[in-house]
Amino acid sequence: MSHIIVPLFVVQGEGVKQSIQTLPNHYRLSPDLIVEEVQYLKSIGIFGVILFGLPTYKDPTGTSSYQEEEGVQQAIRLLKQTVKEIIVMADVCLCEYTTHGHCGVIQNQDVDNDSTLAELQKQALSLAKAGADVLAPSGMMDGTVSCLRSALDEAGFTNTLIMNYSVKYASSFYAPFRSAVDSTPRFGDRKTYQMDPANSREAIRKAIVDSEEGADMLMIKPALPSLDIIAKIKERTTLPLAAYQVSGEYAMIKQAAKEGLIDGSAAIYETLLSIKRAGADMIVSYGAKDLYQILKHDPY
Ligand code: PBG
Repeated sequence: MSHIIVPLFVVQGEGVKQSIQTLPNHYRLSPDLIVEEVQYLKSIGIFGVILFGLPTYKDPTGTSSYQEEEGVQQAIRLLKQTVKEIIVMADVCLCEYTTHGHCGVIQNQDVDNDSTLAELQKQALSLAKAGADVLAPSGMMDGTVSCLRSALDEAGFTNTLIMNYSVKYASSFYAPFRSAVDSTPRFGDRKTYQMDPANSREAIRKAIVDSEEGADMLMIKPALPSLDIIAKIKERTTLPLAAYQVSGEYAMIKQAAKEGLIDGSAAIYETLLSIKRAGADMIVSYGAKDLYQILKHDPY
């Protein structure tokens, strides 16, 4: 359990708990209920949580991503005040905050790398100011790590860590997440900034570049379709390595279990084990509670 990071979805308000149709057993929670959930996750030995926001408004450049009173910022402040010894991570990306659903600022019908970086800096500073321990940029913009590191250092957030998504393949397995946060692109796809799954050497190069730019941890996703990449990057880099068992990987197992085809908790356990075996030091997974069901009876 101490290697697992749990994704949580934050909405504004109080006492709000909305179920997510595409992600069984996961909810959109207001900051007060996020605190309760994190208290529970801590009690079962979870290492950290990663927060994704559902903002009160969206616009073309995602300005709600850096407002102090939005749900994520509130939840981080509350968590840092109340729950100790659990790592609070926050997603840094614009797709949840833009009207078009892309991960960056649009120019000429495509995401513009450098104007996106300027917005990501504002979001990163706002999340660091709220108290996030780790920032996890997931937008796949070139130069993200060096750009955020210098902005954070200049503002005095030298201890805020960066876990960059080094490898994020353009994958069909993100669909349930996009329904959860309403971030399905309104036009086009993400193939101009996410990686081609056919390409492995690019993935290794990107992980090395992120290390050189000053990342503190590296992330690879989706996890199960990328076991070979996890293993190769583990051999060729030295930073702590995380892998993300994404929404589609989890939902697929849950749906098969619901139909009586497989034992869901056992399948989650087996997949997490294989991700670990491939070389992941940490795993972001929606299956933490399934894993707990297995490990509490057989804790090795
Ligand atoms: C982008 C982001 C995505 C996920 C995490 N960060 C979606 C995407 O690239 O479309 C997917 C995670 C999952 O599927 O669980 N901000």
